[in-house]
Amino acid sequence: METVREPAALRAAMAAWRTDGERVALVPTMGALHAGHLALIDAARAAKMRVVASIFVNPKQFGAGEDLGRYPRRETADSRLLLDAGCDLLWLPPVDVMYPDGFATNITVSGVSERWDGAVRPGHFDGVATVIAKLFNQVTPDAAFFGEKDWQQLQVIRRLVADLDLTVEIVGVPTQRDDDGLALSSRNIYLSPDERAAATALPRALGEAARAIGRGDDADAVLAQAHAALDAAGFAIDYLALTDAETLTPGPAAGRPRRLLAAARIGTTRLIDNIAIEQG
Ligand code: PAF
Repeated sequence: METVREPAALRAAMAAWRTDGERVALVPTMGALHAGHLALIDAARAAKMRVVASIFVNPKQFGAGEDLGRYPRRETADSRLLLDAGCDLLWLPPVDVMYPDGFATNITVSGVSERWDGAVRPGHFDGVATVIAKLFNQVTPDAAFFGEKDWQQLQVIRRLVADLDLTVEIVGVPTQRDDDGLALSSRNIYLSPDERAAATALPRALGEAARAIGRGDDADAVLAQAHAALDAAGFAIDYLALTDAETLTPGPAAGRPRRLLAAARIGTTRLIDNIAIEQG
């Protein structure tokens, strides 16, 4: 696996692959890799593409008072994991390559960015959209792979690509979970043992609520019950909502795909999760 920190070296590697007729997949990450990220690498490899992983802890998507300073940075361990997973190239752009002096562009994807995490974390999705647009321009991938755990992020990126006529295919990969159902996340390491045990209430509440709504129970009553279960487990809930799976508007119209989204804090750790509503 080649590790690249200079845009010129990245361009040369991409040009060599193109000359050989190879297709390129990008797996953007902020590092602190876990099995969820490795599932993205596997999916990209299964698509028979050259795989580029990027690691960049993007300051523009962290708000004031968020965990930018303490976000785990583990370049050596991450590099080893990527090598073992069969990644072909690791793109490690320095901050001044991503955001040189005078950088003044901000991409806002209206609508889909505005509710839920967008409301709780103002500017977060602008930071994501801006860095993803840069990464796409740097790597020029044929496809890019993202985890479904960040469901709203995935919809924001799909909208960005559609609106800007980008030719990259966006592939969503199902959320990877621990055996007890907790979605894998780089932030799970912040949980104390007690918090980690209590955190399973989040996927459990979502799963039970999704099944009840899918079989036709009253959605408001089901959400109230899920809310109570999360309160009882010690979560402070940012939102718990039944939404249109693509536009993320609440109270989806009949016949539209639906998704249950949640974000909640346990101690100082904020967890997000989501689940599809399957009919019947
Ligand atoms: O999901 C993440 O890790 C980040 O939001 C991403 C997509 C790498 C952009 O910084």
